[in-house]
Amino acid sequence: MKHVIFHYPTLKDVQLESDRINGYIPLKEDVSALFEPLPLSGRQAANRFAFQPMEGTDGTEDGAPGELTVRRYHRFAKAGPGLIWFEAVATLPEARASAHQLWLTDQNVDQYKRLLDEIREISLKENGYAPLIVMQATHSGRYSKPHGFPEPLIAYSCPPLEDKPLPPDRIVSDDDLRRFEEAYSHTAELCQKAGFDGMDVKCCHRYLACELLSAYTRPGVYGGSYENRTRFLKNCYRAAKSSIHQSSFFLSSRMNVYDGFAYPYGFGVRTDGSLTPDLTEPIRLIRELKEEFEIPLINVTMGNPYKNPHVNRPYDHGNYVPDEHPLEGISRMMRGISEIQHALPDLPVLGSAFSYLRQHAGNLAAGMIADGHCSMAGFGRMAFADPGFIQELRQEGQIRTGGVCVTCGGCAVLLRNGTPAGCVVRDREVYTL
Ligand SMILES: Cc1cc2nc3c(=O)[nH]c(=O)nc-3n(C[C@H](O)[C@H](O)[C@H](O)COP(=O)(O)O)c2cc1C
Repeated sequence: MKHVIFHYPTLKDVQLESDRINGYIPLKEDVSALFEPLPLSGRQAANRFAFQPMEGTDGTEDGAPGELTVRRYHRFAKAGPGLIWFEAVATLPEARASAHQLWLTDQNVDQYKRLLDEIREISLKENGYAPLIVMQATHSGRYSKPHGFPEPLIAYSCPPLEDKPLPPDRIVSDDDLRRFEEAYSHTAELCQKAGFDGMDVKCCHRYLACELLSAYTRPGVYGGSYENRTRFLKNCYRAAKSSIHQSSFFLSSRMNVYDGFAYPYGFGVRTDGSLTPDLTEPIRLIRELKEEFEIPLINVTMGNPYKNPHVNRPYDHGNYVPDEHPLEGISRMMRGISEIQHALPDLPVLGSAFSYLRQHAGNLAAGMIADGHCSMAGFGRMAFADPGFIQELRQEGQIRTGGVCVTCGGCAVLLRNGTPAGCVVRDREVYTL
């Protein structure tokens, strides 16, 4: 269906358009479900809002939080989400997606600790509670750019992601993968030292662990069968688990349950060559992670921000016009989130990609949660634009239009350019294109 830009002044307008396209957009006018606490791993998130990982490319060269990183998390803390899913932090120097991506080390762990203390202190003072904070531990794989230019480390040669085939020496060896797995042990150690509540073994958006889930064509023990394709992720978990010494510290993942590429180049898709999602393997994998590693929640996402960003974050403006109505993109995401939650009713599911609905985003989040389609709602671009929307929902029951994300793609352009990323519309004193 044709791409159209946002034109829904009222909630009723969204409902009518959703009905017209046969969408899956559960809306609720009453947003009180968002303010219910959620028990998680022996503790509790004060409400159902999560701020999704939003990388700012503003760390110092040695991987510590920079001035703008600190500013971002102070803003997030003040806003009062129950959970902050801290942005992608590299496990190794070669794993960084830019020379300014965060990278947690023995040398800078105290700077992370200081930032986490500040986040908790600010939120306690402003909101009366501290958020849970999960760190996203990453290996950027195909998108590694540790020195500011591409130095890809790929799981396998993947035509839909490569304009021209990458040289075979860019394919990581099994020995490299074993070394990368081991790094998660030290990162988990540092994560606890810094004071994070949990660590995300990042498995989304076609970074390394995610890419391996679709490595049907890779020979050897990390490719082909389901067991082989999930080996790296599980070994990263095993490595991380081996260094857990704080009983309340937990592991989880932000996971692509659908990549948006046809078999044999995508995870969570039918094997008939179509783009139709098939969540059988994602559900099996999440269930196994729950059983073996006792993950207390799963953060569900889709797509690839480089090749099919309309799947990852439906938008009005981007570097191409997709052949898809944005509400179809939202519906695919919401259906996927809901399918996972219904398949695993005992595991809280954190959903993604609510920002497209602007002032109605809280109503979608409330609809998904109140109807049992997910347990928490994660916000990315809205948190960049104006994290104050949580307080608006709390005080006025709705989000004001004046601060919403307009899905212009500006923050993503800054990120791709390797420059500090933020909202070029609502925070333009700090961020410009
Ligand atoms: C500038 C920018 C940075 C992002 N950084 C991360 C990241 O570090 N880790 C991650 O898993 N997703 C990242 N994402 C994806 C978002 O977390 C989120 O999934 C996406 O924007 C869709 O959610 P939204 O509609 O609420 O924005 C980023 C997206 C943008 C635009």
